[in-house]
Amino acid sequence: MANSGDSITLKNIASHCKEYGFIYPSSEIYDGLGATYDYGPYGSELKNNIKEYWWKAMVRMNENIVGIDAAIFMHPTTWKASGHVDAFNDPLIDNKDSKKRYRADVLIEEQIAKIEGKINKEVTKAAKRFGDSFDEAQFVSTNPRVVKYKGQIADIEERMKTSIENGDLEALKQLIVDLEIADPISGTRNWTDVRQFNLMFATELGSTADGAEKIYLRPETAQGIFVNYLNVQKTSRMKPPFGIAQIGKAFRNEIIARQFIFRMREFEQMEMQFFIKPGTEMEWYEHWKEKRMNWHKALGLGEEKYRFHDHLNLAHYANAAADIEFDFPMGFKELEGIHSRTDFDLGAHEKFSGKKLKYYDNATNESYTPFVVETSIGLDRMFLAVMSASYTEEKLEDGSERTVLKIPPVLAPVKVAVLPLVNKDGLPEKAQEIMKEIMLDFNAQYDAKDAIGKRYRRQDAIGTPYCITIDHETLENNTVTIRERDSMKQMRVSIAELISTLEEKVSIKNLLRKI
Ligand code: GAP
Repeated sequence: MANSGDSITLKNIASHCKEYGFIYPSSEIYDGLGATYDYGPYGSELKNNIKEYWWKAMVRMNENIVGIDAAIFMHPTTWKASGHVDAFNDPLIDNKDSKKRYRADVLIEEQIAKIEGKINKEVTKAAKRFGDSFDEAQFVSTNPRVVKYKGQIADIEERMKTSIENGDLEALKQLIVDLEIADPISGTRNWTDVRQFNLMFATELGSTADGAEKIYLRPETAQGIFVNYLNVQKTSRMKPPFGIAQIGKAFRNEIIARQFIFRMREFEQMEMQFFIKPGTEMEWYEHWKEKRMNWHKALGLGEEKYRFHDHLNLAHYANAAADIEFDFPMGFKELEGIHSRTDFDLGAHEKFSGKKLKYYDNATNESYTPFVVETSIGLDRMFLAVMSASYTEEKLEDGSERTVLKIPPVLAPVKVAVLPLVNKDGLPEKAQEIMKEIMLDFNAQYDAKDAIGKRYRRQDAIGTPYCITIDHETLENNTVTIRERDSMKQMRVSIAELISTLEEKVSIKNLLRKI
């Protein structure tokens, strides 16, 4: 049986999500729409719980961060100023035999990952050979084979960085040719030239007769924050360092949109722009890298599932950038980005709008355009991370099998199931009485159908952390059993203590205290 973290595939997760009402392909009765998905009853609960964890950690727990909810449609000049009209492109290359399209930089990065794999192999082999006396740092800096591989990586990275920075698509193609990269599908090296492809969706505002204006669906929520910088700073009486946070939809015409909800054309972002004094950006960049990693690790999905990846290939607005990568079923991939965006955005909006977007510091008599460090996480990707780490197929001691979602209780869509042991003898009535109280505090589900074992399995499959069983003893002494999802252990508690016992286990407060 497969356990989370080994042979679980995206396919396992996608089919479980569909079967249990977490995620459906969008407009499925018309055969779906590429890379767009709809969240079902349990999916939307889980998504809301992730949003709540993020919002509370960022906005409520930081006195100097406030939240907004900006419109998706923005003045078209926004996207000229932000650089998205001219530079929000992916360098794409097609294989003429398989007819498949790839991002040129991703093909090259995969080649680098292969060389890194060779280095890791050498290190593992040497560690075995030398045992306790193995000095990894010394080995990687002196072993001739490892040194050669590291040199190759540095060379590839330098060439890729230079060609992307110079917009030199011919050089990028030449790098693919020189590295003898073959299409994973056709196995051939029959490539087209590299071309730039803009990722923004355009639409029209107003009727054509009135002279329709071309506008874009926002490709990131961040610009809604930048254009409101002054409004928010003044009305919230904030001074740098301070942040503005937002959760909202973003749209990108992704060419390579595979891998379930990892890369979608319509998705949600949770972004925070932190406005700071120029010169302090590296300090805040490191601060937010650490804070955001702590936010992830506090969930308990497994510390080994996260790592940082520093960007070489910087976006057009950044002077430093790192990803928090998560170990998804298809390997380590970007989950969140932390970017030092300098004054690129506010500076550009000042230039294009003609409005001053500065901060005047009374204490020093200085006026400056704030620098920005942003944290940007995809809500759907976070959903996939939670699902990937939680999905478990288990063989039990009695030989039976169960599929269980070990979702952190605080994020679980249903917190508690109320189950009368039998559907008679006054147990359903007592269970309904308890249900009415519990639903005031938690998302609860009442289930009286089928044998109790079958009902437990149904709750395991949607990740409900606690099941309360009402039995004949309940009628005698007002106690119930609580069954814990992961250990399947049961304990007896009085109904009077029920709410506080559950509260202790699923409360977001305990999680927020950890970060
Ligand atoms: N404002 C900065 C920005 O948008 P990004 O790295 O392009 O930066 C931030 O995106 C995050 O948004 C990513 O780390 C990822 O989690 C999520 N994201 C980006 N494109 C996505 C897509 N097509 N589908 C799902 N999530 C996406």
